[in-house]
Amino acid sequence: MNNIKELINNKSPEEALALLAQEFLGKIVFSTSLGYEDQVITHFIFSNKLPIEVFTLDTGRLFNETYSVLNSTLERYKTPIKVLYPQTEAIEKLVSEKGPISFYESLENRKECCYIRKVEPLKRALKGKSIWITGIRAEQSDNRQDMPNIEWDEANQIVKFHPILNWTLEEVKAYIFKHNIPYNPLHDKGFVSIGCAPCTRAIKDGEDFRAGRWWWEQNDKKECGLHSR
Ligand code: ADX
Ligand code: SF4
Repeated sequence: MNNIKELINNKSPEEALALLAQEFLGKIVFSTSLGYEDQVITHFIFSNKLPIEVFTLDTGRLFNETYSVLNSTLERYKTPIKVLYPQTEAIEKLVSEKGPISFYESLENRKECCYIRKVEPLKRALKGKSIWITGIRAEQSDNRQDMPNIEWDEANQIVKFHPILNWTLEEVKAYIFKHNIPYNPLHDKGFVSIGCAPCTRAIKDGEDFRAGRWWWEQNDKKECGLHSR
């Protein structure tokens, strides 16, 4: 990990991605949820033709607007984004036995759904890889405030890199507009952090960035299991 830290020390996010792409050719992937932050990183990767695989986890419960961004991103960059789906048997069993909205009933049920729709497909996407790039920003939650931009992910046995960890939301938006990058129109309607449709709502002025995710839950560590914080 220290050699990676040294390699990208004092480099811009774009430079760091280019260096890591060369150093870890074929072993470096970027996960996009197609939100603001991820669209910035997708732009870095595709406009510089960096050899980094870009993938998204289609939970089957995304907003139509999110599918539109996926489509406009494919049209804009003409570069494939790998889409991973939940295992057919697991999702058929879950919905057949518990119905389509079991996640509202208990934290256990919610985590079960997140595991089947996101965590297991993520594990497949990361298998055999060495570096996992994300669009996490420190500002997104209290838990993410003191995160380093390079960290070891014990659960997935992989190095995680968050190239725009310290960007503010204003910086992200300015970059999106400057480069005319496709973005999710829900961002203009108060949606800051966008996940699955039944589990995401808009936030009001002054509310925490993640207040719109799993808003019915009382726990203050609202994560789906993709990230430990
Ligand atoms: S989560 O933990 O709540 O689900 P969040 O929405 O903050 O994650 O996104 C943080 C990062 O996780 C994103 O920048 C992206 O790298 C990854 N991510 C989240 N959702 C997805 C998804 N559906 N597909 C691929 N990557 C995702
Ligand atoms: Fe299921 Fe909601 Fe988690 Fe999406 S966010 S995987 S719908 S519980």
